[in-house]
Amino acid sequence: MCGIVGYIGPQNATPIILNGLKRLEYRGYDSAGLAVLQNGQLEVRREVGKLSRLAALVNEQPVSGNIGIGHTRWATHGEPSTRNAHPHVGMTGDFVVVHNGIVENFMELRSELSAEGVIFQSETDTEVIVHLVERFYSKESTLEEAARKTFTQLRGAHAIVVISSREPDKIIAARIGNAGGVVIGLGDGEMFVASDMPAILEHTRRIVFLESLQMAVIKRDGLEVLNMEGEKQTYEVVSVSWDPVAAEKGEYRHFMHKEIHEQVRSLTDTIAGRVDFEKGFVRLPELNLTEESARKIKKIYITACGTAYHAGMVGKVLIENIARIPVETDIASEFRYRNPILGPDIYVIAISQSGETADTLAAMEEARSKGSRTWAIVNAIGSQAMRVSDGYISMQTGPEIGVASTKAFTAPLVDLYMLAVLLGTLRGTLSEKDRRQLVANLAHVPSMASRCLEREDDIQATARALLNTSHCLYLGRGINMPIAYEGALKLKEISYIHAEGYPAGEMKHGPIALIDKNMPVVVLAPRDPWYEKMLSQIEQAKARGGTVIAVATEGDENIERLADYKLWIPQTPWVLSPVMAVIPLQLLAYHIASLRGLDVDQPRNLAKSVTVE
Ligand code: AGP
Repeated sequence: MCGIVGYIGPQNATPIILNGLKRLEYRGYDSAGLAVLQNGQLEVRREVGKLSRLAALVNEQPVSGNIGIGHTRWATHGEPSTRNAHPHVGMTGDFVVVHNGIVENFMELRSELSAEGVIFQSETDTEVIVHLVERFYSKESTLEEAARKTFTQLRGAHAIVVISSREPDKIIAARIGNAGGVVIGLGDGEMFVASDMPAILEHTRRIVFLESLQMAVIKRDGLEVLNMEGEKQTYEVVSVSWDPVAAEKGEYRHFMHKEIHEQVRSLTDTIAGRVDFEKGFVRLPELNLTEESARKIKKIYITACGTAYHAGMVGKVLIENIARIPVETDIASEFRYRNPILGPDIYVIAISQSGETADTLAAMEEARSKGSRTWAIVNAIGSQAMRVSDGYISMQTGPEIGVASTKAFTAPLVDLYMLAVLLGTLRGTLSEKDRRQLVANLAHVPSMASRCLEREDDIQATARALLNTSHCLYLGRGINMPIAYEGALKLKEISYIHAEGYPAGEMKHGPIALIDKNMPVVVLAPRDPWYEKMLSQIEQAKARGGTVIAVATEGDENIERLADYKLWIPQTPWVLSPVMAVIPLQLLAYHIASLRGLDVDQPRNLAKSVTVE
């Protein structure tokens, strides 16, 4: 999970940056670096691996100065290496940039800049940012103006920090979408900037949170916040307590809310380092999968519990469609009791956020004892599921504190998508064109998730309307049928409202009897191959007086006309639509529970890790 720290003031920036990065260390990273202005020159130190290696390098080649920025990186474009580590430096050496996010149009920008004579030093998408700043900077313009023009060129969601030796009295920071926060700490004659509060809280508790599409000009004794048109914005200074839990929650009241918003960043990290966008390949080395073994797979079982099981249901559709391998999904608590048919060349994928769920571990044991190979998709590094598996994919979401799983649901959806692409590639079921397209789709996932989050006000209004309901039906089909299940699970576990997820086609076989004006119906109707069928489902619910809440694609006039409440998501390739469709449902459940004044993060009777049968 990339982390950012910056400092300007009378002290030496280097130890402040290194300490700040250390406070973000538990999130994980593969390389780190810093840039400090020393005697009018930007000095950069970068190192692969642990932060202690960067500290050792700085010890050998000391650097000190009153302004600097640092970064810990999870590789997105380009392998973890010194030259791909941040900060990235322009051609003149006078500008440096650190960045969280994916520059979706980096290939176009890179070719444009290369044609102008820019020589790239790294394989990263970030490097285009620093060259653009350099290109826009001139005697007439200021650093903030050059940075602002640069930001408007970038597609995707980003947190960016820039400094320059030409204007050594300022740090420029920007937040575009939700690729991680940008927090500014106000000190006495000094200022701090970071991606996360814990990095700077030992220095100040007076914090400003940048909103999306805002940038900041940070000077020792003053802060200016601008929008992307360069107009001044007002901002609020929040006094935060020293409580480490509150610090971790940042600008959010609940961890669940924070974790829903963290999905832009966690999805970036999920894709990070596993995708070669230029060649159109996916890499999942921890699976230990060869072409020969991929070709031999006869069948896959996906087994998990609760939310993780719903992710597995989406995985079935993805793997069957993309890699053409038959997949069965199984609730882990049932798997071992139904004497499943297992053996060599049958793989069992276990999905578990905690990696410690007793039923999931028992299902893995059942698979192993009958000679099948097991893969685990897990969030908790070093957990039992990871240790006992033959191969794994780590979710890369960082710790999930809220009992209701959110970011640890969308990450495995993308993991399963990447697995399907890898299997399809190794087994030769994908044409080169399709493979490239499927890989290219991944670049847009974080910014599309960010667009879903930007609709939060509409979702909150819908939550107010549903506040006093006692029951709710969720309907979906095809790849979004599991999202109906997941939306219903989210609502029931934190708001205690009875909610049922149902395959929409089954409605006429029974549940339709429930629909009247007291039964709100949440319908998953994005533009996917099941869309037309969902429209007739909506008509049927409306005909019986039901209130319809539709998750649908922006600009859909049918839905605009038919549904009572609309939760819009951006146009998305259908194979990735579940990642987007679930976000409004997470927010809907969150706002209903929060408006009801419930303990959102620790709902009654539930535990984060269920280690008993
Ligand atoms: C999710 O919101 C739930 N709290 C629960 O269903 C959870 O997904 C399930 O217990 C599985 O947990 P795991 O991912 O840690 O195995």
